[in-house]
Amino acid sequence: MKKEMKVGTLCVHAGEAPDPLYGAHTTPLYQTSTFVFESAEQAAARFGGKEGGYTYIRVAPNTPTHAVFVQKMAALEGGETGQTFSSGMAAIAAIALSQLEKGDHLVSNDVVYSSTYSLFSSILTKFGIEVSFVDTSDLEEVKKNVKKNTKLVFLETPANPTMTICDIAEISKMAREIGALSVVDNTFATPYFQRPLQLGADVVLHSGTKYIGGHADLLGGVVIGRRGFVKSMRSVVNNMGATLGPHEAWLCIRGLKTLHLRMEQHARNAMEVAQFLEAHPKIEWVRYPGLPSHPQHEIAKKQMSGFSGMISFGIKGGIEAGRKLMNRVELCSLAVSLGSVDTLIQHPASMTHASVSREVRMKVGITDDMVRLSVGVEDSEDIIADLDQALNW
Ligand SMILES: Cc1ncc(COP(=O)(O)O)c(C=O)c1O
Repeated sequence: MKKEMKVGTLCVHAGEAPDPLYGAHTTPLYQTSTFVFESAEQAAARFGGKEGGYTYIRVAPNTPTHAVFVQKMAALEGGETGQTFSSGMAAIAAIALSQLEKGDHLVSNDVVYSSTYSLFSSILTKFGIEVSFVDTSDLEEVKKNVKKNTKLVFLETPANPTMTICDIAEISKMAREIGALSVVDNTFATPYFQRPLQLGADVVLHSGTKYIGGHADLLGGVVIGRRGFVKSMRSVVNNMGATLGPHEAWLCIRGLKTLHLRMEQHARNAMEVAQFLEAHPKIEWVRYPGLPSHPQHEIAKKQMSGFSGMISFGIKGGIEAGRKLMNRVELCSLAVSLGSVDTLIQHPASMTHASVSREVRMKVGITDDMVRLSVGVEDSEDIIADLDQALNW
């Protein structure tokens, strides 16, 4: 693929070539758990790392279908290579387990997806890894919290569910200066709107379950970075066993082919919905990175080429009013997850982030009145009409 290909062309074509065996136009789904060797010598060479190729589905590079998904994602993120996982959480766990050991220190966003928070605060700490949750939207706070043993700086931007944004370029530079690895969870923005590696980050990861798959029909994860980094995860990847299924890899490839089209529509709709909500008398506050009222709107403009489809907002009357809204919507689905073609509405304090203690939630701004909206690709008039009727009591 020529370097100068534009992003839409990469979505459609990157990593893919006609099937050399039968000439199938689309990437074949290699639904197999094991591979047949031509000889015992070839098997020994593959297992001994002397020859590339496939051996067993759990062992990287898994199957040719997985390899195409990795190449497409690497092209989109502008990275060298990557690794797929059975979920976004498996991707995050594999990064942490492969890069950190007893006595190391991890700096993380204070607002992260709840399972990331639990993994860092309750699981890594059991193995003697120190963790500091920091308001990464404040560079001084990051500076104050890094230490001699800081090995990894984990950023989620925009953050789930507060939509807080941190400066990827500045924090990655700071991490590099102290010899720490900078890792960005790019699930909310996607490579269509934000490319962390080009901003200086070392590693980027996604929950493929969200915008990458795009249709709320799979669970998957993917990590993209330098060849050396991906190799350093190999042992954890091969032995942890959080392998993406071939069908899910294939669905991710298919999802990515329309990423550019979907993301444009998600973002256009989200901006219209955010403006509608901001002007609505029953709405107390709205957080959307594309609105000038977003506290880090200037950083968002600097590092994102669009603002994606996620909005959080507070409703007057708090959680009771929020429940009423969620029970009254007709087109929007009351469901967790995000990044699907259809609009999803949920209440972080009692749903996605219910496992985070109220004390922590209050400290980091996951307030009881917060409602989160994953704006789909329907016609915006219909999404707005649904919210309007649901708010009309
Ligand atoms: C920002 C972010 N990262 C990671 C994850 C975890 O992804 P998965 O559900 O695929 O494990 C999620 C899930 O909602 C998420 O929102």
